[in-house]
Amino acid sequence: MIQVNNLSKSFDEIQAVNDIGFTIEKGEIFGLLGPNGAGKSTTINMLSTILQSDSGTILIDDIDVKTNSKACKKLIGVVPQEISLYEDLSAYDNLLFWGKLYDIPPKKLKENINTILDLIGLSDRKKDLIKTYSGGMKRRINIAAAILHQPKVLFMDEPTVGIDPQSRNHIFEVIETLNEQGMTIIYTTHYMEEVERLCERIAIIDSGKIITQGTQTELQNLTNVKETIELEFESLSTNTAQNFKEKISHDAVQIDNKISIASNVKNLPGIITLCNELEMEIKDLTFKKANLEAIFLSLTGKQLRD
Ligand SMILES: Nc1ncnc2c1ncn2[C@@H]1O[C@H](COP(=O)(O)OP(=O)(O)OP(=O)(O)O)[C@@H](O)[C@H]1O
Ligand SMILES: [Mg+2]
Repeated sequence: MIQVNNLSKSFDEIQAVNDIGFTIEKGEIFGLLGPNGAGKSTTINMLSTILQSDSGTILIDDIDVKTNSKACKKLIGVVPQEISLYEDLSAYDNLLFWGKLYDIPPKKLKENINTILDLIGLSDRKKDLIKTYSGGMKRRINIAAAILHQPKVLFMDEPTVGIDPQSRNHIFEVIETLNEQGMTIIYTTHYMEEVERLCERIAIIDSGKIITQGTQTELQNLTNVKETIELEFESLSTNTAQNFKEKISHDAVQIDNKISIASNVKNLPGIITLCNELEMEIKDLTFKKANLEAIFLSLTGKQLRD
């Protein structure tokens, strides 16, 4: 459904997207996971014709985005990272406004708006002004505005930022329903729990580069990290992790006052002994099964979240 090859984009000195490529099959929910500034929005904006790439190719349903952006626009819907709604209009009038931009015949547009309001669970609030909505409700209308023309492909750029878990779940259910109805979805986030819940295939992006991609199982198998032990201390001197690298596991990373060690739980007594030898008092200790966060850490030496 989507083929991206050698895609790049710079803003002056900043190489926001650096030679990335991926393929998305029809009917997939594809996750683009990466920390702040990784290049997720820049990628989505190029795929959705909002931004011109410097180089590379993007095909959507075999149509070239660069040379035939008009045809592409009909196929795609975009949920932008920032909410783009008129606060002083009702939800219904916002959707009427956005729908008119798509050349949908008025009768069909009204039908679509009502169907979508039902889908997102906001039919009973449709006459209320957006400024009276909660953050989660605005996010839902932001999604509705992107699907009024029943696109084949939906780009969603961090659609759950700043909302409570209940609204987030509601949005996940909407995404899953749209996907069951056949929509191909590209979902960006810096929350690994979200891609773990929604996406079968994932690309992890950092500093403009895709550092790895595949199914969740393929990503798990890429690294030897199966379990991570995370230790937190009151304070740490700069190269303390070196001791853990030498004595416990070469995969030990120090971030602020924490040390993350890719290590089986069997090494726990050794870790505690080493802390005692170094006279380091453990403030907190967490044991994690391998997840995308641990994989990201082992590939980049950084944490996904700030
Ligand atoms: N219009 C622009 N002008 C200059 N630099 C930009 C512009 N848009 C993005 N950048 C830079 O490109 C890099 C990638 O930004 P981008 O917005 O794509 O990241 P992101 O992964 O979406 O981050 P976030 O999770 O914070 O939304 C960043 O260093 C950013 O500062
Ligand atoms: Mg972004």
